[in-house]
Amino acid sequence: MWSCEQVIGASLDVTEVAALYRASTLADRRPVEDTGRFTTMLAGAGLVVTARDGDGRLIGIARSLTDGTYATYLSDLAVDVAWQGKGVGRDLVRATRQAAPKAKLILLAAPAAVDYYPHIGFERHHSAWTLVGAPTG
Ligand SMILES: CC(C)(COP(=O)(O)OP(=O)(O)OC[C@H]1O[C@@H](n2cnc3c(N)ncnc32)[C@H](O)[C@@H]1OP(=O)(O)O)[C@@H](O)C(=O)NCCC(=O)NCCS
Repeated sequence: MWSCEQVIGASLDVTEVAALYRASTLADRRPVEDTGRFTTMLAGAGLVVTARDGDGRLIGIARSLTDGTYATYLSDLAVDVAWQGKGVGRDLVRATRQAAPKAKLILLAAPAAVDYYPHIGFERHHSAWTLVGAPTG
């Protein structure tokens, strides 16, 4: 079994979290090797939920930014490959929702998870936009 808990991102062991990102494959798409940036990502996320197995090992994480009542941006959802498909990801999303129940969850799906989110109840948004560089004009 496992248990989920809301934690302070800055209190986490960055090396342990980086190992989880690698074990989930999400490290392929996150700057895990840039320790300074990754540490800032963890400390700056206002809503972090971890999942640990019965021995206390970190097996999953949901890292979000939230205002607590209107919008929660779920930036990273990662579950150790050995634990995938058992409901850990769904529990992490549930705990993230419960931490800010009025806030809508917003995310960008990684290619491998495009079919996952609708499976657990997310609706595709027809008008989502990102800006990577400066605004034009
Ligand atoms: C995507 C991810 C977080 C899902 O977590 P998980 O713990 O494996 O998923 P769950 O066990 O909660 O799955 C719940 C349901 O979704 C299904 N599911 C799991 N992964 C899926 C996928 N990639 N595509 C479609 N359905 C999926 C499960 O079979 C399960 O179905 P059921 O309820 O009918 O039995 C996890 O697989 C992962 O870490 N992937 C690699 C990193 C990644 O891409 N993260 C997403 C970043 S946006």
